[in-house]
Amino acid sequence: MGHRAILPSSLHIFRMAPLLLLVALVPQLCTGQPGPPDPPGRIAVIGAGIGGSAVTYFLQQQFGPQVQIDVYEADRVGGRLATLTVNSQQYECGSPSMHSLNLHMQDFVKLLGLKHRKEVAGKSAIFNGENLVLEETDWYLLNLFRLWWHYGISFLRLQMWVEEVMEKFMRIYKYQAHEYAFSTIEGLLRSLGGDHFVNMTQKSVGESLQGIGVSQRFIDDVISAVMKASYGQSVSIPGFVGAMSLAGAQGNMWSIEGGNKLVCSGLLKLTKANVIHARVTAVSLHNTEKKHLYEVHYEQEGTLGSDFYDLVILAAPLHKAGYPITFLNLQPSLPEPMGPYHRVVTSIVHGYLNSSYFGFVDPKLFPFSSILSMDTPDAIFHSLESLCPVNVSVGFRRKPPQEAAVWRVLSQRPLDRKELKTLFKSYYSVQVIEWQAFPSYAAAGSSKSLPPIILHDGLYYLSGVEWAASSAEMSAVAAKNVALLAFNRWFGLNEKIDQQDLMHKLKTEL
Ligand SMILES: Cc1cc2nc3c(=O)[nH]c(=O)nc-3n(C[C@H](O)[C@H](O)[C@H](O)COP(=O)(O)OP(=O)(O)OC[C@H]3O[C@@H](n4cnc5c(N)ncnc54)[C@H](O)[C@@H]3O)c2cc1C
Ligand SMILES: *[C@@H]1O[C@H](CO)[C@@H](O)[C@H](O)[C@H]1NC(C)=O
Ligand SMILES: *[C@@H]1O[C@H](CO)[C@@H](O)[C@H](O)[C@H]1NC(C)=O
Ligand SMILES: *[C@@H]1O[C@H](CO)[C@@H](O)[C@H](O)[C@H]1NC(C)=O
Repeated sequence: MGHRAILPSSLHIFRMAPLLLLVALVPQLCTGQPGPPDPPGRIAVIGAGIGGSAVTYFLQQQFGPQVQIDVYEADRVGGRLATLTVNSQQYECGSPSMHSLNLHMQDFVKLLGLKHRKEVAGKSAIFNGENLVLEETDWYLLNLFRLWWHYGISFLRLQMWVEEVMEKFMRIYKYQAHEYAFSTIEGLLRSLGGDHFVNMTQKSVGESLQGIGVSQRFIDDVISAVMKASYGQSVSIPGFVGAMSLAGAQGNMWSIEGGNKLVCSGLLKLTKANVIHARVTAVSLHNTEKKHLYEVHYEQEGTLGSDFYDLVILAAPLHKAGYPITFLNLQPSLPEPMGPYHRVVTSIVHGYLNSSYFGFVDPKLFPFSSILSMDTPDAIFHSLESLCPVNVSVGFRRKPPQEAAVWRVLSQRPLDRKELKTLFKSYYSVQVIEWQAFPSYAAAGSSKSLPPIILHDGLYYLSGVEWAASSAEMSAVAAKNVALLAFNRWFGLNEKIDQQDLMHKLKTEL
């Protein structure tokens, strides 16, 4: 026994010597080897909408201010956050508002010293093509419908369903605060609400609501109008995106004084990003000995250029009607774009509403500032709303309906003269923007799976998240996820990627 006891310890000493030697040698042997790699030198972001602006900010937060970030924008900073000018006042003509629980957007507003725009109260109603079928006594559509006896328990069920989805969705902020990232959209959704959440991106909102006992009548009268007004599509859109828009219809919406797009320009300024007004045409791969390098090819005022980057973030939706981007010698190459985007036409009309069309011969008695159209085949518009300018001055009031006001009409097609003359008694001006507004959800077809986030080692696709749900906040959530994912992958922090059961983990860790 004594013998054996001595042996190991002497062996131990004997073994230690070469180990120590090795340890001493390591620093010399491994200079520039595994260790923590250098941070990326240069990053390209394609698109300066809220997705691109937010990812620029989050990337800088992660990698530090020494990383140079170039942001390519083909059109306008802000993208689908945009304004139009009527009589020297600006009005929101893209995304008009956010939900109060959109925490990244709230943070940006605070960070940039922006202000919430004051809400000017107004009432809504639903139009069935002949009459206003549902009228509301306060601003938010569904608050009143809660009291609408003929929908009975349906409203309560809807409310609980939406609240549950929102509550689970809110977990993302906690995960992201702890720097957890997901390499797929499905993985992100699963971490929030299990397989149920992933299924909600496949099953229609109509079916989902029927499944929890919401009446068909409530779906036809109310839900379908809300889906039309928010996404220009029917109750066949998936339950997940449907729930997000119903959360908006329940109220607590806000917008930004001076225009929602100020968040984008503000974030780009704050990060001192290099904004390049150019259209990206292609991304190609260059393998050097050590790493992947990506060449971004662009066109700027008719001349072609290109530049090299360690990381490229694609923050512009890939669809056939967008600016095409081709990928050269990238393996694996991209999956086909998921499908088309859905057109929504915004007409900003300065004029006199034809209240007779809605059954109010005397315009003075017309009490509504916003009208949603029921989803009928011959409906000429999705929604119609009297707008407040983005800078609401003290003492601003909504124009009474007998006075000329600025209206936003959303429709499937551009309104022709006859349709304009039906909706308005007369008008001073009409400005039209045709948006490729949202994914055409029903056209996702059989493939039903969501687009990838990692297109190639250092090439990330942010905008695919819109196929789960399209909103400014979803782009911001995807932006933070992509920044964390790129950072965690760059430094090999695998324990911060695709972790299962985060809810439980974070509870016990804290
Ligand atoms: C009419 C309408 C109403 C909406 N209502 C709401 C709402 O109430 N609430 C809400 O949250 N969301 C709403 N949305 C959706 C919201 O606007 C979008 O989800 C969000 O703005 C998307 O931001 P993004 O940065 O991901 O994309 P985008 O804003 O589309 O930004 C992409 C940018 O990339 C640029 N780009 C594209 N291709 C290239 C290229 N090859 N090279 C260089 N640049 C390129 C584009 O010019 C664009 O500026 C609405 C949208 C529309 C159109
Ligand atoms: C999700 O859908 C799959 C396939 O349709 C089904 O097998 C599974 O039970 C569903 N899961 C949940 C939690 O709804
Ligand atoms: C509108 O509001 C923004 C943000 O507060 C401000 O920067 C801008 O100067 C205002 N514009 C006008 C015309 O008042
Ligand atoms: C207004 O609506 C009424 C009722 O639908 C219609 O008869 C009329 O032509 C419309 N237009 C004008 C300019 O009054």
